[in-house]
Amino acid sequence: MSESDQKRRVSLHGQWSSHLAFVLAVSGSAVGLGNIWKFPYIAGVNGGGAFVLVYLVCVFAIGLPIMMSEILMGRRGRRNPVATMALLGEEEGGTRHWGIVGVIGVAAGFFILSYYSVIAGWVVAYIFEGASGAFEGADTDQVGQIFSRISGSWIVTGFWHTLFMTLTVFVVAKGVEKGLERAVRILMPALIGMLLLLLVYSMIAGDFARGLAFLFEPKFSELTGSGVLVALGHAFFTLSVGMGAVMAYGAYLPAESSIGATSVAVVIADTAIAIVAGLVIFPIVFANGLDPAAGPGLIFQSLPLAFGQLPGGSIVASVFFLLLSFAAWTSAISLMEPAVVWLVERQEGLPRYVAASVVGVLIWLLGFLTVFSTNVLSEFTFFKGTFFENIDFVTSNIVLPIGGLAIVVFAGWVMSANSTADELDPSVGIGYRLWRLSARFIAPIAVLFIFLNAVGVL
Ligand code: PHE
Repeated sequence: MSESDQKRRVSLHGQWSSHLAFVLAVSGSAVGLGNIWKFPYIAGVNGGGAFVLVYLVCVFAIGLPIMMSEILMGRRGRRNPVATMALLGEEEGGTRHWGIVGVIGVAAGFFILSYYSVIAGWVVAYIFEGASGAFEGADTDQVGQIFSRISGSWIVTGFWHTLFMTLTVFVVAKGVEKGLERAVRILMPALIGMLLLLLVYSMIAGDFARGLAFLFEPKFSELTGSGVLVALGHAFFTLSVGMGAVMAYGAYLPAESSIGATSVAVVIADTAIAIVAGLVIFPIVFANGLDPAAGPGLIFQSLPLAFGQLPGGSIVASVFFLLLSFAAWTSAISLMEPAVVWLVERQEGLPRYVAASVVGVLIWLLGFLTVFSTNVLSEFTFFKGTFFENIDFVTSNIVLPIGGLAIVVFAGWVMSANSTADELDPSVGIGYRLWRLSARFIAPIAVLFIFLNAVGVL
């Protein structure tokens, strides 16, 4: 038995049934509201092209190496992210204090899920709006009214948020391996298929040329330092990195799976889906006189217009929002997973369903700050805006990049080249060298630079 095999520990929990199951789980985590709801909305608010370019650079130069770092650390530690960071910290750097990075990640997942569930609740509500025929022939004003009717009532929004959180707790309580695999394998291709169908619609009925120009013609005058920070934060958010979600999934990864190839595939798929979503939405926005900078309601106001004009649009709408709910669900599960495995592994004898319920109830309660942000507390603003906007800004653009920075510095500087090569590529090929260059220099320097730039130091 080689030294590396001796070091490979037995997982505290099960393993993915196959490599494909792992790829599906990570894709299920990555692809979600971030791609279809958030990317178009923040690209719109931040002026389009230049923002998109920075986002793409951040995804590949920073997000990808961090995703690889998280998976390799997860697999080496084979525990929840907090215990993995502490254990590897002790082995590689002589201190267990690295566990704090895991704790910050658990907290980030907690806060992100609190608002993610509210937006996902709207998506679930739209399954029923679509089926009821409400979008048929609706004009811009009418779709706006539908959105206000839902987001403007804390009872309605709170109801759907409650339902979504319940469904999420249900899966996490049973253990993530079961069910998730099947859901992603069938539903993700279906969602991609629907997006492509909508893309055809946008090409024909939307102002496609203008949508294309908006997304791909970089106008750097439109981009602010804080826009660059939002692009960076979104690179983390959309790839689910910086908080241990992917690390938690890596803990179940069989030793022989290739981490590099998996990560590259997931990153490309995730990015492609976001770009297609943008190409669907902006042509509809421009053709119907909507404001690209409309904010978080953007997809809820643009997509129903398209569905309303399609033959059989009510059913198409309903199915689309159903599939998007599933995509959000698989992401929400991964947002909760680190907190739940942490509790289960810490508290010996604590059943998983108890841990999942406790965490779920706390997140559900916290979610009401976001529920109230589009109605009773919509006027209550500070720093970046409403509670929702502040939770989103701080978690995505500050906490995830700091978590990611710590993770990549750990993998690049604290872990020995032997350990990381052992997980990524024992033959130390070009891919490994590129990863290490990025983990040691490019990713940390870029994150620091964008931070300093955003606070106006540079
Ligand atoms: N990546 C998910 C999305 O794009 C959100 C997410 C963020 C999931 C962080 C897990 C961790 O919707």
